[in-house]
Amino acid sequence: MMTDQGTGLTDAEGGPVRHIPVLLPEVLASLNLAPGKIILDGTFGAGGYTSAILAAGVDVIALDRDPAAILGGQPLVAASGGHLTLVHSQFSDLAQHAPAGGLDGIVLDIGVSSMQIDEADRGFSFQRKGPLDMRMSSDGVSAADVVNRAKVSDLTRIFGFLGEEPQSGRIARAIEKRRLEEPFVTTRDLAGLIEVVTPRKAKDKIHPATRVFQALRIFVNDELGELARALFAAERTLKPGGRLTVVTFHSLEDRIVKKFFQDRAGKASGSRHLPIAHERAATFAPVGKSMVAASEEEASRNPRARSAKMRVGMRTEAPPEADDLSIFDLPNLASLGKMGG
Ligand SMILES: C[S@@+](CC[C@H](N)C(=O)[O-])C[C@H]1O[C@@H](n2cnc3c(N)ncnc32)[C@H](O)[C@@H]1O
Repeated sequence: MMTDQGTGLTDAEGGPVRHIPVLLPEVLASLNLAPGKIILDGTFGAGGYTSAILAAGVDVIALDRDPAAILGGQPLVAASGGHLTLVHSQFSDLAQHAPAGGLDGIVLDIGVSSMQIDEADRGFSFQRKGPLDMRMSSDGVSAADVVNRAKVSDLTRIFGFLGEEPQSGRIARAIEKRRLEEPFVTTRDLAGLIEVVTPRKAKDKIHPATRVFQALRIFVNDELGELARALFAAERTLKPGGRLTVVTFHSLEDRIVKKFFQDRAGKASGSRHLPIAHERAATFAPVGKSMVAASEEEASRNPRARSAKMRVGMRTEAPPEADDLSIFDLPNLASLGKMGG
């Protein structure tokens, strides 16, 4: 499902919006909190989940790949009396930050924060003029690098697969034509071109640039690869009984989480034609409903919550399975976007 995350949320006075945590009571309940436990929050953001977990008397190790989030979290670290460790790290590296005895719970709230969208300089929003950047951390290729240098066929696949953009080829060809004259520098350069190539129709619920901006953000930050690797790392670092709670906002991300829990449920796959070789022991057991969405009340209070999906699993005693990306059935995106082709 596509959300209009690039709208550049502002409050009634036009000031910056503080990130409102999504599905907070549901996330807290899913983690089975109790004093003395250690939870890893892989997506610290504005610290909404972390603050609430700390308030339950639980120690938190929190990560964020965005240096601005780490800076913004320093007052909470100072106030936590040693109960919060905040680390600048990608969540795919979460195992490096876990205690030797393992973790009691891991929570991931995938995607961008309202602060990231709201800051024009980060280049996430097509409605705010800023550099076409979109990197959550400050390294790696930017969205402008991709748009100015990737092959048309790769841009088409990025927009089509990661953005589910039906006009992906048309937009990619228009980008190629325009960049021969002048490179893309700002968010408005790209949004303006998309507005011309695929004008908004009265029935369209989202801005015509929404899908392309979302696709570029996911690609630039390797968001699907990060998520898949984090799920494997969680399997290796949770104690038996430990909870893994993942909140996603995009159908591809939710599919990755769903497939992971299905694969780890230990049910042997097979068919009439392909006999089952062996039963695998489940490494995760289901907790509650297989998927939890926001209530209508929350969705009306916080538009970000509309597309949120939460899935939860409980680690069993079984040894971790091998990391095998093929369970997610994803195209090899790492091969896309090679520059200058
Ligand atoms: C939706 S916000 C989290 C909000 C948080 N739950 C709260 O209540 O304030 C997502 C955060 O995850 C961070 N993030 C996204 N991908 C990441 C990754 N691969 N590793 C670490 N942090 C990541 C983003 O920088 C952003 O700050």
